[in-house]
Amino acid sequence: MTQTLLHQILDYANRADPYPIYEELRKTPVHHDADGPYVISTYYEIRSLLHDPRISSDARNLASGNADPLAEPASEQSALPPGFLRLDPPEHDRMRRMTNRHFGPPHSPHRVDQMRPELHDIVGGLIDGIGDPSRIDLVEEFSYPFPVTVICRLLGVPREDEARFHTWADTLAASLDPDPDADPAERDKGASEARMQLGMYLAGLIEERRKNPGDDMLSQLATTKSQDGQMTTMELLSTAALLLIAGHETTVNLITNGMLTLLRNPDVLQRLKTEPRLAVPIVEELLRFEPPVQLLPQRTTLADIEVRGVTIPKGSTLWLILASGNRDPQRFENPDHFDPDRPDIQHLGLGSGIHSCFGAPLARLEAQLALSELARRLDNPRLLDDPPPYRQNAVLRGPRHLRIACDGIRP
Ligand code: HEM
Repeated sequence: MTQTLLHQILDYANRADPYPIYEELRKTPVHHDADGPYVISTYYEIRSLLHDPRISSDARNLASGNADPLAEPASEQSALPPGFLRLDPPEHDRMRRMTNRHFGPPHSPHRVDQMRPELHDIVGGLIDGIGDPSRIDLVEEFSYPFPVTVICRLLGVPREDEARFHTWADTLAASLDPDPDADPAERDKGASEARMQLGMYLAGLIEERRKNPGDDMLSQLATTKSQDGQMTTMELLSTAALLLIAGHETTVNLITNGMLTLLRNPDVLQRLKTEPRLAVPIVEELLRFEPPVQLLPQRTTLADIEVRGVTIPKGSTLWLILASGNRDPQRFENPDHFDPDRPDIQHLGLGSGIHSCFGAPLARLEAQLALSELARRLDNPRLLDDPPPYRQNAVLRGPRHLRIACDGIRP
């Protein structure tokens, strides 16, 4: 039964609408089949496991037979130490603290908000650059270039190097989403070359910033000494690569899923045009309703753990289906309805617990600005394909293209 449902989740035929499978899965909140992972699909159980110190995120704890075919192994493959996403305490906490010192409260409470005018300009420039309003591919023309540009500005990548950075990011993102028709050997070769070039580029930039620090995040990470020590060049490289990779495809998909959902809910789109503040609850509801990270497939139990009467033995692989928890009727009333007016939208779309999304304030701001500006500036937008073609990836799920038409672009 589990095997069948797992295969169904992975089956591309279900990519446009995996939610009926999750509904089926929730009937057995802890699914397990022979050699497969333990699959957890209900809200409260997922949240409790995300807060459980007996669950490891460290890839080195994954049983080799259980290694997840979908997990993103970029940092391991590039021989960099794993970014803190794949570390357990105390290393995780130390690295996250050192990075957060230059990103959020208490030391840098204004970093994200100060980026608002710049983000607004980037969004405006991308909308101005849209070619033919009667045939827009929102992914290519807007959602895809936006987050990479933002990470470049955050890290302090010089403008003249941004195009090269985009190319590496695109190659790495494509390697996360295998095209079944592409030659896997070629793809892996391209991805490892991109990783190497990106690594070398960042190493050069770090060296330069150590000598001539600016007010960008990379300079600050490279030069700050705190009670946690100073980041080594390898730690800096893996952190910068993590910020790029973790914030790329996820933000692309949030914005694209967002526009798709708004076009399917024209009353909400209409309200957003005149009430830009509605972007805040819209983005929260999107993170619940169409979360870009559908599941977390790379957790391991460090002890025997009981969940809903089932003992999950030490050393087991867990799959936590965030997108299913977000549609759990035990937690959310009428969960299959997109409703930004819900009084309480405490979703799992950005994770929970010690690994909860580091970039959350930036991701939220990017999506809020993007959707409110698209709603304001596109005149009479409509979908040209519904459902759109999706990417292969079942974990980082989202449309590969979103073709829309509009009557014009407002200033
Ligand atoms: C809509 C966009 C985004 C979504 C849906 C998203 C989602 C997530 C989720 C679900 C996790 C938890 C992973 C786990 O528990 O294993 C996570 C962690 C993380 N995210 Fe995001 N993310 C987004 C954007 C970003 C951005 C823009 C950045 C960087 C600026 C970022 C950086 C990170 C990092 C570094 C972690 C690891 C945190 C840790 O291990 O302590 N994310 N994200």
